[in-house]
Amino acid sequence: MSTTDRTPASVPGLDRYVVIGNPVAHSKSPFIHGRFAGQTVQQMDYQHLLAPLDGFFDAVQDFRQGGGKGANVTVPFKLEAFALATELTPRAQAAGAVNTLKFDGDRILGDNTDGIGLVADIARNAGVSFAGKRVLLLGAGGAARGVLLPILAELPAQLVIANRTLSRAEQLAAQAGAQAGVAALEFSSLSGQFDVIINATSASINDEVPPIPAGLFAAGSLAYDMMYGSRPTAFLNFAAQHGATARDGLGMLVEQAAEAFHLWRGVRPDTQSVFADLRKALEQQ
Ligand code: ATR
Repeated sequence: MSTTDRTPASVPGLDRYVVIGNPVAHSKSPFIHGRFAGQTVQQMDYQHLLAPLDGFFDAVQDFRQGGGKGANVTVPFKLEAFALATELTPRAQAAGAVNTLKFDGDRILGDNTDGIGLVADIARNAGVSFAGKRVLLLGAGGAARGVLLPILAELPAQLVIANRTLSRAEQLAAQAGAQAGVAALEFSSLSGQFDVIINATSASINDEVPPIPAGLFAAGSLAYDMMYGSRPTAFLNFAAQHGATARDGLGMLVEQAAEAFHLWRGVRPDTQSVFADLRKALEQQ
C-alpha cells in the first residue's frame, strides 16, 4: 500500500484528524467527531485511516508530516500507540494503552479516554453511581485494564475482577495496589449479587456469554456490555432475562470520543444528541 493510499486527502484550511485501525471502515468515530465539530463550529476534518498491520508507525508519521493534528487509535494498535507517544497522561500510563494521540510539533501526547468514557456513561447517562456499590468486572484483557482505575476512582465498596484465566485477573487486581475491596476470581467461584456488572470480555464478538451464574444479577442491577451493535449482545439478553437493566457500550463510545475531542479542541461537545442519532442509525442497519 502506498503512502498516498494510507493518508486521507486533506481538506484545505481544516485541521486534520483520523481514526487509525485495521480494520477501520466500521468505525463510527468520523460520524461522531463530524457531529461534534458541527455543533461546536470547529474547523476540522476527520477521516478513517487504514494502517497495514505492520505499518502503524509509518502511517502515523506520514499523517503527522502531512499536518495531522491528532488521531484516535483502535484495534489492534493501542499498545503501539502507547509505545509511540513521547508523553503519556496518567490515565494512559495506568491503562498501558493509548486510544488518543495529539500531535504538537515533535511532541506526541498519548491519552486513554476509554475508562473515563465508561464511567461517564454509567454515572451520568445511566444515572448509576459506583460509590459504595458492589461492582463486578468480567474480563482481564486490554479493555478491562483500560477501565479499572477510573472505576476504582469512583470508590465502589467492592470490585471483583473475574476472568476465564485466573492469573490474568490476579495480575489486574495487583494493579489496584492496596485498595480495599478488590478481589480476583474465576467465573466458577463467583457468588452473591452485584449492583453493576460490566462485561469487558470479548465473548460478545462470538455471541457468547461468559459462564457466570444467573443469580449474580439482582433486580435493578445494571448489566453493561462494553460492546455494542444493532442488537443486544448475548450477555445483555442473558442479564435482562435475569432481572438486570441492560446497557450496551454505545454511550461509552460517544463519551470517550467527547474526551478526545476536548483534549484536541478544548471544548466539550453535547453527547446526548449524537448518541441518539447514532442509536437510530444503528437500528436502521
Ligand atoms: P481486549 O483488548 O478486548 O480486552 P484481550 O486482551 O484479548 O482483548 O482480552 C479478551 C478478554 O476476553 C480476556 O479477559 C479473555 O479471557 P482470557 O484472559 O481467559 O483469555 C476474555 N474472553 C474472550 N472470550 C471469552 C469467552 N468466550 N468467555 C469468557 N471470556 C472470554
